[in-house]
Amino acid sequence: MPGVFQLSTDELLREAARAHESGVPAVILFGIPDRKDARASGAYAARGVVQQAVRLLKRELPELLVITDVCLCEYMEHGHCGIVQRRKSGARILNDATLKLLARTAASHAEAGADMVAPSDMMDGRVRAIRGELDRLGFLDTPIMAYASKFASAFYGPFREAAESAPKFGDRRSYQMDPANASEALREVALDIQEGADIVMVKPALACLDVVYRVKTAFGYPTAAYAVSAEYSMVKAAAARGWIDERAVTLESFLAIRRAGADIVISYAAVDVARWLKEG
Ligand code: PBG
Ligand code: ZN
Repeated sequence: MPGVFQLSTDELLREAARAHESGVPAVILFGIPDRKDARASGAYAARGVVQQAVRLLKRELPELLVITDVCLCEYMEHGHCGIVQRRKSGARILNDATLKLLARTAASHAEAGADMVAPSDMMDGRVRAIRGELDRLGFLDTPIMAYASKFASAFYGPFREAAESAPKFGDRRSYQMDPANASEALREVALDIQEGADIVMVKPALACLDVVYRVKTAFGYPTAAYAVSAEYSMVKAAAARGWIDERAVTLESFLAIRRAGADIVISYAAVDVARWLKEG
C-alpha cells in the first residue's frame, strides 16, 4: 500500500506525534502479532502489540484520541474475522463463540487506556457483547464506534496485504454485507444503535455515499465514513502517473463524504488533508 507501513511502537509514536501536530485529532490502531493462531490470542494478550501501543500513546500524547480497531483477522492463522469451524462439508464461522473473544479484545484495549473501541468484525451481536463486558469491568464511559454498515468490498485489498489479514480460504461474505442490499445496511445500523453503539460507521466511503446519506438522514446519529485502502491507493497511483491532481481529488472526495452526511472521516490521507486545510 503506497506510503503505508507496519510500524513498531517507537515508530508509531513518531508518526502519531506528527499527525497530532498537523491537526489530526485521532488515530485508529490495527495490530499485527508475532504469531497467529486459531484463537486469535494476540488480539487480547495483555502485552499484545496494540495494548502496548495504546499505553505508550496515552502516556506520551495524552491529548491524542486513541481508537482501536477490534477484530480477529490479523491474529487468526486463517485470516477470518471470527472462529472457524472446519467440517467435511466446508468451513463456517462460529458467530456466537466469536463474541466472547471480541469482548475480551475490546476490554483489553480499554484496560490499556484506549479512548474508544471500534469493532470491525461484523459478527451479529458484537456491540451488545462488547458493551456488556466494558460495563462489567467498569469502563462505562468508553464509547463504541461500530463498523455498522460494512460491505464485503473489493476496496479492502491493499489493507489486507499491508495488514497480512487476507482470508486463506473462502471470503467474508457470510459476515460482511452484500453491496447490492441497502435495506440490510440500514437494518444493521439500527441493530448496532439498539445494542449500544455511540457512533455508526459506513465503509467503504466513496462507493457508499448513498448509504452514508441514508444512515445520517434516517438515524441522525453520529456517523463516520471510512475512506478505505483502495480509495487511497487508486488516488496515489493515478497521481504518480500525472493523471490527476492528488490534493484537489483528495479534498473533493473528503468534501463529498462530508456533504453526504458523515461527521467523521477515517482516512489514510488524514495528515495530508489536515496540512492542506491549514494552508487554506
Ligand atoms: C479488519 C478490517 C479490514 C479493514 C478495516 N478493518 C479488512 C477487511 O475487512 O477485510 C479494511 C480497511 C481498508 O481497506 O482500508 N476486519
Ligand atoms: Zn477482521
